[in-house]
Amino acid sequence: MKYILFFFFSLISSINAFQTFIPSSSSKVSSIRKSRSQELVSDLKNTKFLQANDRQILTKQYMAFDFFPSMSIKKKKFNPENRKTVVITGTTSGLGKATLQSLANRGDWYIICANRDPTRMDKIAKEEMGLTDADYVSMNVDLMSFDSTRKFCSELKTSLGSKGLDALICNAAIYKPADPIPRYSEDGIEASLQSNHLSHFLMISGLFTSLQKAKNARVTVVGSITGNTNSIGGGLVWPRADLGELKGMQSWNEPGDKITMIDGKSFNGAKAYKDSKVCNMMTANELHSRYHEATGITFNTMYPGCIAETPLFREKRQWFRTLFPVFMKYVTGGYVSEKEAGDRLGQTVWDPICAESGKYWSWNGDAKQVGRYDIGKGQVVGAGGAGGEIFANTPSNDVLNSFKASKMWDASTKITGAVWPKVSIPNQSRPIGKNASV
Ligand SMILES: NC(=O)c1ccc[n+]([C@@H]2O[C@H](COP(=O)([O-])OP(=O)(O)OC[C@H]3O[C@@H](n4cnc5c(N)ncnc54)[C@H](OP(=O)(O)O)[C@@H]3O)[C@@H](O)[C@H]2O)c1
Repeated sequence: MKYILFFFFSLISSINAFQTFIPSSSSKVSSIRKSRSQELVSDLKNTKFLQANDRQILTKQYMAFDFFPSMSIKKKKFNPENRKTVVITGTTSGLGKATLQSLANRGDWYIICANRDPTRMDKIAKEEMGLTDADYVSMNVDLMSFDSTRKFCSELKTSLGSKGLDALICNAAIYKPADPIPRYSEDGIEASLQSNHLSHFLMISGLFTSLQKAKNARVTVVGSITGNTNSIGGGLVWPRADLGELKGMQSWNEPGDKITMIDGKSFNGAKAYKDSKVCNMMTANELHSRYHEATGITFNTMYPGCIAETPLFREKRQWFRTLFPVFMKYVTGGYVSEKEAGDRLGQTVWDPICAESGKYWSWNGDAKQVGRYDIGKGQVVGAGGAGGEIFANTPSNDVLNSFKASKMWDASTKITGAVWPKVSIPNQSRPIGKNASV
């Protein structure tokens, strides 16, 4: 019965898819800028992954960025005391906000909230969540802009100084299933590809040296079953994630070139989101394969469960937003509250279990049962992906396809101008899928 209902709902869902700064002195600023530029340019010269032509383009991008006259590197007033530091992108709502709360409740984390509107974030943190300056700091980043992402990394590194960054949680995302035509970032990239994947990819590279400075740093890139075709949600609900031969991504040659879909095909907003989630998960796996052993940094991805009430679904029609949580609770059993999902994502940066790298963390809640209302308890029981234990899940073979993952890595590096350290040991311990060499 639940599968009949599931198929019915999937069909409907598919149809629906159609429609504080302390400015540094100027001399200090220019010396920081100069040394950072020299560092970047020398990194570029030594980067083995790039062709000469690509290197030339990227060097131009970096020179333009780092010597841009109106750009000053500012130092944020940080107050981490003895706490560990973690960056979380997208903490104004949903999963990111719940993770901020979860880590703040622990008392040993100083959370760097990376959002496009830090003033709004401060209001939410102080007025709604009761956080104080001892718990968090608000910084500006707009993931729709590579310049903004680079600026965020520069400001954060300047503020951290010699201190390392203990964790980075790439959480922010957008989902535009109802867009009939693509929206493009200022860099000419389709919005969900840029904000969900490419800017996070750039951010990880931009903060890499800070992560290296911390002992046992961790990076978690939020994934989703919707990008995993081996799951009901990702495999049976149209459109399925599929990077194809990455023709769209690989067609990018220089700044200003447009990318709509990774596979080069026509725009589909729901698929663009799912494809970006495949890239998120592949990125975590590639980082693990390339850098875990050499750096000791832990790289993971995770699926928090279906948090059906978050504003991620803001563009769905009201009937969908009302029925979706009910459906996920009572039919598929995949529902997880924002609070629990936030605890789960937070867990990935503190739990000793999650010190293992290269994993796709999930939780085996009661997701296989149909929910019923327990009058005695006054709540729904036996449903929801709530509860259960953390376990290392198996991503789809598409996510584990190392050939595509390498293509994705190279194209993302070229497009974003990400500079990676020279400690790469490719293929050392890549997670293996059945068609990993295809
Ligand atoms: N909800 C689910 O069921 C579910 C399931 C699996 C995985 N996930 C994943 O969980 C993560 C969070 O999703 P959510 O459900 O919590 O969605 P959400 O409530 O919509 O939160 C998205 C966050 O991303 C921020 N953001 C969006 N565009 C940005 C940009 N250009 N620059 C900086 N920040 C930006 C938003 O900030 P603004 O306030 O400025 O918009 C918001 O803080 C995503 O990675 C999503 O794929 C969610």
